Amino acid sequence: MRRFFIAGNWKMNLDRAGAVALASAVAKGAVEVGAVDVAVCPPSVYLDAVAQAVRGSAVCVGAQNMYSEPSGAFTGELSAAMLLDLRCKYVILGHSERRHILGESDTLVNKKTHAALAAGLVPIVCVGEKLEEREAGRTADVIRTQVDGSLAGISADQLRRVVIAYEPVWAIGTGKTATPAQAEEVHVDLRKLLAARYNADVAEGVVIQYGGSVNAKNAAELLAQPDVDGALVGGASLKADDFLAIIQAGVELACGR
Ligand code: 13P
Repeated sequence: MRRFFIAGNWKMNLDRAGAVALASAVAKGAVEVGAVDVAVCPPSVYLDAVAQAVRGSAVCVGAQNMYSEPSGAFTGELSAAMLLDLRCKYVILGHSERRHILGESDTLVNKKTHAALAAGLVPIVCVGEKLEEREAGRTADVIRTQVDGSLAGISADQLRRVVIAYEPVWAIGTGKTATPAQAEEVHVDLRKLLAARYNADVAEGVVIQYGGSVNAKNAAELLAQPDVDGALVGGASLKADDFLAIIQAGVELACGR
């Protein structure tokens, strides 16, 4: 049975005091999360402070990015081992902002995914189509290319430790959420694709989050979709009450799953 996984991607926001305050409020509020996994992903410079703030709570910590090499002359980059050292459990890879603003390719996302798994981190691999791609009827093609490229060479066993986040680019930060039916359609396609590339058993077990303008109001109907296993939340994760309400929606729905 897949567990719900709600993660907050804080992106490049907050200062140190704000990050610690938000992490503390989430940790304090997320007491009876039961069958729901919860993580916050602060800017890397605040990982240490945030990990300390959520220590002993149900809230885990994730990074927003990492580099694929273990060490060396890679100015400005962080390795998987460094993230583990900061008590990260997760790392977001191939977020659309990194793909489209910073030019990350599927090949690089793939190398990072291998490195994260080898180090023992759980990668949250992001995929999603742009508006013009959806309007041209190319959503399934784009997702297939991103999945095949980003997960190349990942074994079925390794896939059990991968989280996939479907984040349609047109829904990110726009307030324009995919409808529950639109999200479910892509999640079902993703699972079929994984079943074809691996096997039905492993595909059934992969946690697929939806991301893109998830908020306290729309979370329940998105999470109620059978193949939507959680949310990768941007803007709404910066407000403790909103993020906690999204977690609560997961807690309530998890009982009926
Ligand atoms: P918003 O929730 O702000 O749309 O961001 C989604 C996202 O990019 C999470 O990774």
